Amino acid sequence: MKEILIWSPKGGDGKTTICYSMIQFLGTTCDAVDLDPQHSLSTALNVAGIQMSQPNAKYRIYDTAPFNDASLDQIIPNVDHILLPAKLGYPDLVSFRTAYERLLKANVAHKALLVFNDVRKPLTQEAKEVLRLFRKNYPKIKVADTFISRLEAFRRVFRFPLEGKAAMQISSLLAEIGINDRFK
Ligand SMILES: Nc1ncnc2c1ncn2[C@@H]1O[C@H](COP(=O)(O)OP(=O)(O)OP(=O)(O)O)[C@@H](O)[C@H]1O
Ligand SMILES: [Mg+2]
Repeated sequence: MKEILIWSPKGGDGKTTICYSMIQFLGTTCDAVDLDPQHSLSTALNVAGIQMSQPNAKYRIYDTAPFNDASLDQIIPNVDHILLPAKLGYPDLVSFRTAYERLLKANVAHKALLVFNDVRKPLTQEAKEVLRLFRKNYPKIKVADTFISRLEAFRRVFRFPLEGKAAMQISSLLAEIGINDRFK
């Protein structure tokens, strides 16, 4: 099984949204582990009638809490990919430092991917500057080619499979980590 951890040290970056969208996209090939005591992902899946555990899952997605949870030390070395959602703003640029240092210390920078979420195009001058500073300050973390935009489709939480622009972006992001499956 391929395991994907979605993590960021800051709240409200889109961890749960991205987890949920990936599950909407991958369907029963994917199961979920909710490590956040807020349980937003479990609640959303429960309301939508989606099982957290899937008997034939090929992928497992972990949603996490918005802080440097010590329990991640056991998980970080064992997952295949670590996706790090961030917004293209100064608060995220600053708070990413703790994640960066932790990933380097755990020797897992090579499996991490920084994913910019809620990106509005065209990029403002400030967003361009923040992007430049992310690359400059955190050179050991790869930046995903796929930017996740502000998506109306994310509001349609009961809809399976994921559709439209959201599906295209999630598909493209998953392809970057070698996953080419679709909803079954
Ligand atoms: N790409 C997006 N387009 C539109 N809305 C988004 C997008 N990403 C996140 N949101 C909205 O932003 C808010 C925060 O997103 P979300 O709950 O996924 O963040 P989180 O990182 O899981 O937060 P927490 O750290 O509290 O767990 C939610 O209301 C969500 O619907
Ligand atoms: Mg969350």
